[in-house]
Amino acid sequence: MLVAIGSDHGGFLLKEEIKKLLAEENIAFEDFGTHSIASVDYPDIAKKVGEAVAAGQYTRGILICGTGIGISIAANKIKGIRAALCHDVFSAKMTREHNDTNVLAMGERVIGPGLARMIVSTWLATDFVGGRHGDRVAKISQLES
Ligand code: RB5
Repeated sequence: MLVAIGSDHGGFLLKEEIKKLLAEENIAFEDFGTHSIASVDYPDIAKKVGEAVAAGQYTRGILICGTGIGISIAANKIKGIRAALCHDVFSAKMTREHNDTNVLAMGERVIGPGLARMIVSTWLATDFVGGRHGDRVAKISQLES
């Protein structure tokens, strides 16, 4: 497992918290920025992380902005990326089992760090179940071509 993580300024503090969680769980990661609360554009971060995951350089990506909405919309424009915006543990589990998502998005201004930690741990630990869900994910991929 190798995780690419990134945020805009609106998600910077939560990104730092999630980096602590990854270190505690001995999960290797690379931080694609941003590195302060100075204003940046979330599509630029989504592009860096999304392209690195889509290229197969990283197993999964985690993206954080203020709401999680803009950065997930941007990530989903990249071919091969299935990004899910999750603010509850059930969705985090189901989106791995059914959608094989390779990017998790969250909003720092929406949830607290405790819930965000549980969402990340669940999302990273849950496997795709395949079967009929694999057929459906393949149909998502067909929409890209
Ligand atoms: C930045 O102010 C904010 O718009 C951004 O972090 C995000 O919430 C966009 O969807």
